Amino acid sequence: MQHQNIFLFFAASLVLASACAPKGFPQGERLYTYHCANCHMDDGSGLEGLIPPLAGSDFLAAYPAEVPCIIRYGVKKEIEVKGKTYEQEMAGIPELNEYEITNIINYIHHAWGNELGYRNPEEVKSALENCESGPSSENGG
Ligand code: HEC
Repeated sequence: MQHQNIFLFFAASLVLASACAPKGFPQGERLYTYHCANCHMDDGSGLEGLIPPLAGSDFLAAYPAEVPCIIRYGVKKEIEVKGKTYEQEMAGIPELNEYEITNIINYIHHAWGNELGYRNPEEVKSALENCESGPSSENGG
């Protein structure tokens, strides 16, 4: 009886574990929820007229090298996403390292129906080294 219960317990937890097994990027999702969702929303839809969407964002697809820079250093310029223009400032999040940024990017690249490529930390690192508004630029754009 004891054994059976233990077996059942394990079987149940296996089922639960696989049901909950994240399809994507658990750290990326957690970081997204913490750092990004209050503006870009849990469903990536942004905020009408103010915050551009990440779900279905053509910007994400078109400027892969800019995305790590935006996350670390922020951005304030005219940006067009899905035919609409935004130019509210987004503050950077300097405490995220390249692995965390990679995980966030892979999460948003595969969330909400997005089907964009995978990034690895080396690509993100080299993008970060070439940011226009990075620490190496003197005149701050
Ligand atoms: C304080 C609100 C705010 C937070 C927090 C924020 N963003 Fe943004 N984000 C913006 C705004 C506003 C813009 C448009 C900036 C502009 O036009 O210069 C933007 C633009 C972007 C863009 C480019 C446009 C697009 O929609 O594809 C990406 C990518 C992006 N943010 C990703 C993120 C990620 C990832 C995080 C979390 C690490 C994050 N943002 C956190 C407000 C925010």
